[in-house]
Amino acid sequence: MTISSEQQVSKVGVVGGGLMGSGIVEVSARAGQDVVLVESGVDSARAAKARLAASLERAAAKGRIESAEGVLQRVHVVSDLGALADREIVVEAIVEDETAKVALFKELDAVVEDPRAIFASNTSSIPIMKLGVATSRPGQVVGVHFFNPVPVLRLVELVPSLLTSPETLERSRSWATGLGKQPIDCQDRAGFVVNALLIPFILSAIRMYESGFASAEDIDRGLVLGAAHPQGPLALADLIGLDTTQAVAESLYEEFKEPLYAAPPLLQRMVAAGLLGRKSGRGFYTY
Ligand code: NAI
Repeated sequence: MTISSEQQVSKVGVVGGGLMGSGIVEVSARAGQDVVLVESGVDSARAAKARLAASLERAAAKGRIESAEGVLQRVHVVSDLGALADREIVVEAIVEDETAKVALFKELDAVVEDPRAIFASNTSSIPIMKLGVATSRPGQVVGVHFFNPVPVLRLVELVPSLLTSPETLERSRSWATGLGKQPIDCQDRAGFVVNALLIPFILSAIRMYESGFASAEDIDRGLVLGAAHPQGPLALADLIGLDTTQAVAESLYEEFKEPLYAAPPLLQRMVAAGLLGRKSGRGFYTY
C-alpha cells in the first residue's frame, strides 16, 4: 500500500515522558514533527523536559543537530490529555501496567478527534489486542515498539493486532521510517521478535552461571570473542535491569508455558535481594 501525502503523519502526541517516551519525543521532533507530550505530574513533566534537553545538548555537541533550542521549539509538554485532540498519531509510553494502559486507551479514544488517528503503544509485553478493544476504533490501534536508547537504536517492531487495519499499519511504517527507523513486522505475541529470542538466550546464560558451568566473565567473554556480540549476555542483563529481565521472562512464560522462558531461581533471588544490575550498582557485576 502506498501512503499518500495526506495520509502522512506529522502531528504527534506522546503519553508518558520517561526513558522511552522522552526518546520518542526526541526522534519525532528531530525529524521536524510537531510533538505534544503528556506527562502525569508537574515533577515528572519537569524530569521529562530535563532528560530531553540533556539528550539534545549531547546531540548538538556531537554536531548531529544544529541546536537543542531549535528542536525543543517543536515540543509542547502538558499535563492535560485534552491537548491531544488534533493529533494524527498518539504513542503511549506509560508504565508497563495493563490496567493503566487500558484506562488510557479508553480516554484517548474519547479525546482524539481525528477519525483516522493512529493509537500506538510502545508496550513490550501487553497484547495489542487488549488495547485495541478498549477503544471504539481497534482498527487504528497498533504496537510500535522502540528500543532503548531510542535516539540511537534503529529498530522499531510494528505489531498489528488481528483487528488492525492495513492502512494503520502502513501509515505507522511510513511514520517510523520518516524518523530514520527500520521497522520489522511482528505478530501480536509476547516478546514480539527481539525479546522472544533475546530473553531465553539471557536466561540460558544465567542458568549456565548458576550451575557453575563457567564464571560470569568467561560466559560474557565467550560470546564477545567467539560470536562477535558487542557485550555478553550477563552484562546485557545488568544493563536491561534484572527486574525488567524477570518481568519480560514472566510474560513470555505466561503466554507460551515453555520452560526456556521460565526465570531461573538465581534471577528471582537477585531481584528479591535488590541486585538489579547497573541501576542498583550490583547485578552479575559490581558498578
Ligand atoms: P518509565 O517508568 O521510565 O516512564 C513512564 C512514564 O510514564 C513516567 O514518566 C510516568 O510519569 C509516566 N506516566 C505514567 N502514567 C501516566 C499517565 N496516565 N499519563 C501520563 N504519563 C504517565 O518507563 P519506560 O521504561 O519509559 O517504559 C515505558 C513503556 O515502554 C513501557 O510500556 C515499557 O514496557 C516500554 N518499553 C520499555 C523499554 C525499556 O528499555 N525501558 C524498551 C521498549 C519498550
